[in-house]
Amino acid sequence: MSLEPNGIQVCRLSAASQKSICDHFQRLDLTSRWARFCGAISDEDVLKYAQNIFRHNAVVCGALVEGQLRGVVELRGLFQSWPSTAEAAFSVEPDWQNIGIGDALFERMFAMARNRGVRTIQMICLKENSRMRHLAAKHDAQLHYDQDATEAILRPFWPTPASLMEEIVGETRSYAHRLFE
Ligand SMILES: CC(C)(COP(=O)(O)OP(=O)(O)OC[C@H]1O[C@@H](n2cnc3c(N)ncnc32)[C@H](O)[C@@H]1OP(=O)(O)O)[C@@H](O)C(=O)NCCC(=O)NCCS
Repeated sequence: MSLEPNGIQVCRLSAASQKSICDHFQRLDLTSRWARFCGAISDEDVLKYAQNIFRHNAVVCGALVEGQLRGVVELRGLFQSWPSTAEAAFSVEPDWQNIGIGDALFERMFAMARNRGVRTIQMICLKENSRMRHLAAKHDAQLHYDQDATEAILRPFWPTPASLMEEIVGETRSYAHRLFE
């Protein structure tokens, strides 16, 4: 976990955080759920999705504010091919949107993908999701538009000792932060 300047902590989540992840998804309002899942989804299906989040070779990162999980990014489909392609998806709770959580998660997701040899990251959002499109473009994604959706593609470089060290330092720093909290 690392502590961003604005007090947002970003860390990799494990199955031990399953309940917090389910609670996070259930706090998403209709608009955010619609944007996250590119359409309507019932309470039961959101819960089922959150309960199964660690399947499909997913790496999950969380953003915490004052110790509460407020945002999640999932990187799915890792290790299914080499060099690998993964799909990233973001969710930030409505009251916590637009304060930098998505951006902080984006950077960590990109570093984690790079360090796991991912060569293509794909993100899909609805075409009206201009905030997600902005975030993707800001991180140099190539955007492809169709009638209803936008696909954003990122192509990370190969990992380097520096990129690996950056991730290790981030996780260690935040672990230490948690100990002192
Ligand atoms: C899309 C989402 C992940 C972004 O996360 P966030 O924490 O709200 O975003 P941040 O605060 O980090 O960054 C928002 C950026 O978009 C910009 N922005 C805000 N509203 C915008 C809009 N309507 N149009 C374009 N850009 C916008 C902000 O100025 C900021 O840009 P900056 O970093 O250059 O200053 C979040 O809003 C969310 O979870 N939405 C619902 C679910 C969703 O859409 N998921 C994406 C599907 S993959």
